[in-house]
Amino acid sequence: MNKVLKNLRYISIISIAFLFLPMYIDGQIPVYIDESKPVNERIEDALLRMTLEEKIAICHAQSKFSTPGCPRLGIPEIWMSDGPHGVRMEFMWDSWSHAEWTNDSCTVYPALSCLAATFNPALSYQYGNAIGEEARFRNKDIILGPGVNIYRTPLNGRNFEYLGEDPFLTSKMVVPYILGVQKNGVAACMKHFALNNQEKLRDVINVKASDRALYEIYLPAFKAGVLEGKVWAIMGSYNKFRGQYCSHNELLVNKVLKGDWKFDGVLLTDWGSAHNTDEAARFGLDIEMGSWTNGLTWGISSAYDNYYLAQPFLKKIKSGELSESLLDQKVRRILLLNFRTNMDRNRPFGKKLTPEHKAIALKVAEEGIVLLKNENKFFPIEKGRYAKIAVIGENAVRKLTQGGGSSELKPQQEISPLQGIIDKYGKEHVVFSLGYASGEPNYINELPSPYNADSLVEAAVETAKNADVIIFFGGLNKNFQQDCEGDDRKNMDLPFGQNELIKKLLTVNKNFGMVIMSGNAVSMPWISRVNGLIQSWYLGSQGGVATANIISGDANPSGKLPFSIPVKLEDNGANSFGSIAYPGDSTNVIYKEDILVGYRWFDTKKIEPLFPFGYGLSYTTFSFGKSKTDKSVYKSDETAKITFTLSNTGRVSGSEIAQLYISQKNPSMLRPVKELKGFTKVALNRGETKTVEMTLKVSDMAFYDDKINAWTLEPDDYIISIASSSRSIKSSNMLKIVR
Ligand code: BGC
Repeated sequence: MNKVLKNLRYISIISIAFLFLPMYIDGQIPVYIDESKPVNERIEDALLRMTLEEKIAICHAQSKFSTPGCPRLGIPEIWMSDGPHGVRMEFMWDSWSHAEWTNDSCTVYPALSCLAATFNPALSYQYGNAIGEEARFRNKDIILGPGVNIYRTPLNGRNFEYLGEDPFLTSKMVVPYILGVQKNGVAACMKHFALNNQEKLRDVINVKASDRALYEIYLPAFKAGVLEGKVWAIMGSYNKFRGQYCSHNELLVNKVLKGDWKFDGVLLTDWGSAHNTDEAARFGLDIEMGSWTNGLTWGISSAYDNYYLAQPFLKKIKSGELSESLLDQKVRRILLLNFRTNMDRNRPFGKKLTPEHKAIALKVAEEGIVLLKNENKFFPIEKGRYAKIAVIGENAVRKLTQGGGSSELKPQQEISPLQGIIDKYGKEHVVFSLGYASGEPNYINELPSPYNADSLVEAAVETAKNADVIIFFGGLNKNFQQDCEGDDRKNMDLPFGQNELIKKLLTVNKNFGMVIMSGNAVSMPWISRVNGLIQSWYLGSQGGVATANIISGDANPSGKLPFSIPVKLEDNGANSFGSIAYPGDSTNVIYKEDILVGYRWFDTKKIEPLFPFGYGLSYTTFSFGKSKTDKSVYKSDETAKITFTLSNTGRVSGSEIAQLYISQKNPSMLRPVKELKGFTKVALNRGETKTVEMTLKVSDMAFYDDKINAWTLEPDDYIISIASSSRSIKSSNMLKIVR
C-alpha cells in the first residue's frame, strides 16, 4: 500500500512539473508571475490561463475561512480571519468547532467602541498596523474588520464592534485603521455594507431609509474607507435594503460602491448572506462565504458546491443564461487581491504578540476609558488613600474576550480588572466579592449561572459593609442578548440583577464608584447615588492594567463618549417611534428618525441626554480661549482655519478633545442643530497653554439634497462652534458661505 502511495506521489509531482513546463520553455516567465509586468497585464494573463471551473472556484468558499485560489497555477488560497479587534483562533475546515491549535492566540485589542472613544486617529493607525502585523504573521490575507455600522439604537448587539453614532467620527477613525492593516500586505475588510444596524432579524429585515439618511449617516464611513483608506475588501451585510439583499444590491454595490466610489477591491458576503445566483452574478458580489449552509438552510456540511456562486453559477454560464464576462469581472478583482496580498513577495512577514502590540492595546484602553461622573473627587483613588478597597461584580474577573459571536478571541494574556487593582494597591488592601453571576457565554442561548444569586448578594453586602470604598464592576458581558451577535438586547437595563444589587450595596456603603463595561449605553437608575462612574469597554488583553491605571490616577482619563447615553430608551430617536422603526415588523424596519441619529436627535428634539455624545471628564480642568477664524467669508472650495487657546488649568497633565460642530442658520431643508466636522486631541502639561488650529473643509458643511440627488452647500450663515462635548460649547464664530 505504502509503495502504491509513494508511486502515486511521484506521478503527481511529475505531472505538476509537466503542467508548468510549457510556461518556462525558452526561459520565459509567464506574465502573471513576472513581477516586472504591470499588475493589469498579470491579471489578464492569469485570467486567460484559468479554466471556467477554476474561475468559478475562486468566487466562493472552500472552507469556513478560505477560498481555494488556483493551485494549478500556483495562485494561493485566500485565508481570512475575524476581526475586528484581534486575530481570531483557528477553526475546523468545515465546522464551527475551534481547531484547538496551540499557536493561535493573539493580542486582544480593545473593541472598536473603545477605539472610537479615544478620538485619536493616530492611535487608530497603530491599532490597524498592530492587528495587520498579527494577521500577517498568522498568514491571513484578509482581516474581517473594521466594523463601521452606525450606532442607531443602544439595543444593537454589535455596537461594541463599531465606531459609534457619528458619521464624521467613524470616517476619521476608520481610514487610519485600514491604512495600518494594509501596510502589512493584509486586506482590511470593512463590514457590514450596509445598514446592518441591528442584529435582531438581521437575516431577513428590509431597511427602509431615505437617501439623506443613507448618504449623510450610514454611508460616509464606507465611503471614506474606499476613497481615503483605499480598502481592498468589503463585506456585504445580511439585511436587505429597499427590497434587495445588501450583498448583491444593485444600488448599493453596482451604483454606489463600484460605480460612484470606484471601489476596486472585492465584495464578499457575510457568512451566508447571498440569496440568489442571478443577483449575485450581476450586482457586484465577488466572493461568497458561508456558515455551514447551502445558502438557504442550515445543517448541510461541505456544501460549497451548492453556493449561489458555485455550481448554479457555472450552469447558468454554460447554458448562456449568464455571461462569462460577469465571472471575469469578479475573478479580476480577486486576482488583484492576490497580487496585493499573498502574491506580493515584498510584503512584510508580520509580527505576533510583541511588547509593542501590548503597549498599543494598553494605550488604546487607557485613552478610550471615559470618566462620566466624579463627585467629590471620588477618582482617582490614590495608593494609600484607603486601607480596604472592595471590588464587587462579575465583570471584575470575567473573561470578556470570549462570547459576543464572531469577534471572540483567544488571548495569550488577559489581565482582569481585579488583577490590575491587586497589582496596583497590593493584595492586602483589596477584597473581592462576585455579587452577581451569569452563565458561560453562548451565541444563541442564555445559560444559567452556576451560583445561587441570593447568596452572592448577601456575601457582597457583607464585603461592602466592612470596606472603606466600593468599586463595582458591572455592565454587559457578550452573553446572548448582552452585546452579542445574532440578536439584540431586550432593553437598556443592566442584566443579572445588577440594579437590585447596587441598591443594596448603596444602603450599606455610600462611598461607591462604578465601572460599567459594555459596548452600549445602559440605563442608570442609580446615577444620582453613585459618586464616581467610569464607562469602560471590552478592553482586551491589557484591560485590567488600563483600568487600574485610570482608577489610581497613574493615567488621566481622556476618552469621550462615541454615542449619546439617553435617560431612557424611548428618548433615543430610533426607539421613539414604536416597533416599526425598531426592530421592525419582521419584514421591514423604517428609519423614521431619518438623519436625526444620536445627538442629532437629542439636540434637534430638545431632549436632554443623560450623558451627551463627545462627553468625558478628566482629572484636570481645561479652559478654552475665544476662537477666531482666518476669514469671515468663504467659498465652497476653501478651507477655514479656526484657532483658539486651550489651557490645562488643573493640577495634573492631561488631554482634552476639542470638537468642532457646525450649524447652518437658514437651511432650505431640515438640518440637525449641530454636526461634528472636526476634532483634535490635545495633550497639555499642568499649567500649559497651547494655541490649537483646526481646519474645516468648507465643502464638508454640505448636506445631501435628495430632491436633486447631490451634496449641496447653500450660501448662508453658518455657526462654527468649538466644544468639549456636543452639549458643551466653549466658543462660536459666524461664517458666511458664498458661491
Ligand atoms: C459575522 C461577520 C463575521 C463572519 C465570519 C458572521 O456571522 O456577521 O461579521 O466576519 O460571521 O465569522
